Amino acid sequence: MAFSPQFLDELRLRTGLADLIGKRVRLTHKGNEHQGLCPFHKEKTPSFTLNEEKGFYHCFGCGAHGSAIDFVMNMDGLSFPEAVERLAGDAGMEVPVDSPEERENAKKRQTLYDVVEAAAAYFEQQLRMPEGRTALDYLKGRGLDDGTIAKFRLGFAPDGHGALKTALRRLKISDDQMVAAGLLIQPEDAGREAYDRFRNRVIFPITDKRGRVIAFGGRIMAGDDDKKLAKYLNSPETALFHKGNVLYNLALAAKSARQQGTVIVTEGYMDVIALAQAGFEHAVAPLGTALTEQQIVELWKLVREPVMCFDGDNAGMRAQGRAAERALALLKPGYALRFATLPQGEDPDSLIANQGRQAMANLIEKAEPLSEVLWKIETGGRLPKTPEQRAALQKALEDHARSITDPTVRAHFSKDFRDRVWAASGRSEKAGKRVKTMAPTMGIGAGAATGAKIDAHALRERILLATVLGHPGLYDTVGERLGGVSFSAPGLDNLRQEVLKTLAGEPDLDSEGVKRHLKENGYSEILDFVLMPEVIANAFFVKPGTDIETALEGWEETYALYRNTDLGIEIEEERDRLKDDMSSENFNRFNSLSEQKLEAAKGIEDEQAGRTKN
Ligand code: UTP
Ligand code: MN
Repeated sequence: MAFSPQFLDELRLRTGLADLIGKRVRLTHKGNEHQGLCPFHKEKTPSFTLNEEKGFYHCFGCGAHGSAIDFVMNMDGLSFPEAVERLAGDAGMEVPVDSPEERENAKKRQTLYDVVEAAAAYFEQQLRMPEGRTALDYLKGRGLDDGTIAKFRLGFAPDGHGALKTALRRLKISDDQMVAAGLLIQPEDAGREAYDRFRNRVIFPITDKRGRVIAFGGRIMAGDDDKKLAKYLNSPETALFHKGNVLYNLALAAKSARQQGTVIVTEGYMDVIALAQAGFEHAVAPLGTALTEQQIVELWKLVREPVMCFDGDNAGMRAQGRAAERALALLKPGYALRFATLPQGEDPDSLIANQGRQAMANLIEKAEPLSEVLWKIETGGRLPKTPEQRAALQKALEDHARSITDPTVRAHFSKDFRDRVWAASGRSEKAGKRVKTMAPTMGIGAGAATGAKIDAHALRERILLATVLGHPGLYDTVGERLGGVSFSAPGLDNLRQEVLKTLAGEPDLDSEGVKRHLKENGYSEILDFVLMPEVIANAFFVKPGTDIETALEGWEETYALYRNTDLGIEIEEERDRLKDDMSSENFNRFNSLSEQKLEAAKGIEDEQAGRTKN
């Protein structure tokens, strides 16, 4: 739908940006500028600002930027026309319908919604009729309670070819409309009457993201398994229903997903429903196809890291691989997918039935980043033993990294993959020579070659963590700084966050206690990686036996060196951004980073000068 510029201007004028955003974000203001915590990314200090007069918001943290319409689109996952409609409604404005065809189409769509809604109501009703008894028993037998059945508006399509047709005809709905809504099948040969598509099936209404019913899925019941019927039958593509754009249960899941900061993506209707009944209301599913680009984008409008939770069978693993590959091209900084792996032969529905909701919660908690999944797929769970195998592995991983479009994300993925392959060689050849080449002062200086410099950066990340793991008492002094950085490998960064979270909650834990906690929570593998001999060989102070002053000194020096290269990477990125867009904002940011880097470098010199004097 096209809106006239006049109408949109008027809408912007009438929509108070601060009022609108103030409902979602706690704002403080100075003149026309308002500030608050950005609703589009997690942060502790406010970098989200809005200017009422200019009608724009901007986040200096994540770059989110836009008008009132953009805000509603991004916050609530609405399309442009939907956002305009919503804001116009709030402002008490009538949305002009601009052309006669538009009006005609809008009316048609409207009536199709009505037709589908009437069918949904009919199916729901039938489930409570004597004919629906078997269907109701079937659903109850699968553990669904009345509340869940009502919430998902589950229904029953009676047997016979004209049950629904007759019922809807009584409501003055024409056969043509029912065909257009996908409810009836029109046989090819002329003269034959259209007949009900869904017969003797349990009905799962499919809604759009506003909660309007747009299509149905129908499942056969127990006893029909041998009739060679498809287990599920879905509505065909219609004016309302485009399978690849829809996620089952998105409307109900959206609110809870935003509250929880996560959304679970499963494979089936029954998984979504079983999850909801077990208290995981933030679950959705594609409709029997691989996750499409549109669906991934839709998920990212809700949260930054949707969790894929596919069936624990070969098909599920393939679906996982396809989702991982599709996501690569779409990745952008701050947006990712996580993957939870179900035990062989289980889907979320059966897992909850067999092992309870806690087992499910644990799985989701342990979901792994995309990079980890690709690593696992390519290594097949075994570390390469020979240089030949390592080269082949690195090549395969690089191919994945190359399909990432975003340069920043791509750089981090290839670096992570390279580091891992190298680490694998370190592991099988006992802390190799490579690491010894970079060991001035306390053994953490940068090597001369660029390759070594990158490795040194990753090594420093591990040293920073290992030191705190060996001396949890350092948390008071270094916790804030460790909280202010972000490690380049997702797995390592998760560990960093978990360590900080653990020590914030239980500051009195000793080294063993922290490690035990991490192991119990699924971090064993990455923990082993952090505490590998090559880390200890390069930084003796990480060992728990070292006195805490020496450990702190080692940490400080590592941190100074780390920040120096870390800032180096940020400056590179900022320079690129500045090249694209010479705004004063970008220029200021670039300048401030450069200054920080100078200061950090000075800190290292002082430190080293002090050391030679001693
Ligand atoms: P599943 O067979 O995993 O679904 O198919 P499920 O929800 O676990 O089914 P139950 O537990 O046996 O009842 C996953 C999804 O694939 C689509 C449906 O969307 C289903 O939810 N599908 C499956 C079809 O469209 N047609 C089929 O014949 C089977
Ligand atoms: Mn199932």
